[in-house]
Amino acid sequence: MDLLELHLEVMQWIDEAKAIIQAGLKSDLIIEEKTGYKDLVTNVDKQVEQYFVANIRELYPTHKIMGEEGSGDKIHSLDGFVWIIDPIDGTLNFVTKQRDYGIMIALYKDGVGQLGYIYDVSRDQLMYGIRDYGAYCDHKRLVKPFVSDLSEGFLDMNCYILMDANERFKNTIRHSKGTRAIGASSIEHMNVFLGNSLAYLSEQLAPWDVACGMVIARELGYFYRTLDNKKIDLLSNKTSLLVCHPAVALELLNTYN
Ligand code: IPD
Ligand code: CA
Ligand code: CA
Ligand code: CA
Repeated sequence: MDLLELHLEVMQWIDEAKAIIQAGLKSDLIIEEKTGYKDLVTNVDKQVEQYFVANIRELYPTHKIMGEEGSGDKIHSLDGFVWIIDPIDGTLNFVTKQRDYGIMIALYKDGVGQLGYIYDVSRDQLMYGIRDYGAYCDHKRLVKPFVSDLSEGFLDMNCYILMDANERFKNTIRHSKGTRAIGASSIEHMNVFLGNSLAYLSEQLAPWDVACGMVIARELGYFYRTLDNKKIDLLSNKTSLLVCHPAVALELLNTYN
């Protein structure tokens, strides 16, 4: 499997997925609640996922697929090639404000990330990581900025992290430039890798919320583990996550727990 050839293929798929989303936004969205009013799926989420799945099935019939909206396979192991797809990450943002949502697709081989793509549709910004070839944003190589202290940046986190924060962690938050929340794991990952935020913390993420970020983080040398400092398990449907510049990882872990 030539990763660079596959990379060109995936970029074409993402271009087509973007066209599906843009066309979907021009007609009425069909919106369904999954577990409640904060957990939505639209016809466009389903169409984008089905588009990726159809391409993978045609070109790589032996590969397995894990997709949020259910058009993939039931995955019980990460053996072999596994694609992990979040057709629209940040569906609530997509439905309510048509910005701050992203497409995410990653490829793993025997549990090791090979390719990871995060596409911010409304800003037309594409970030990706290719195993051992580095991480890029709009085809420019990303580099980890020099950071020495938490006071140098923002912390992205969802409201549950903030609401549950203990006193020591509140002090850590005070030490930073402040908190930010976007409500889309995809865009929050991009913020961290672009150096706009020092960290993104979340509870209860699914494999498709973290699979791409883990590939990009490895290429950049960013910290990428659970909030209790364990390896991320891509077979778990609810993982916590701390992705951050390595310079601030210890302080965040020590005070969060
Ligand atoms: C959600 C977003 C959100 C995160 C949720 C995810 P979805 O993804 O990434 O930021 O807090 O846990 O489920 O459902 O919109 O793809
Ligand atoms: Ca969802
Ligand atoms: Ca989604
Ligand atoms: Ca998601």
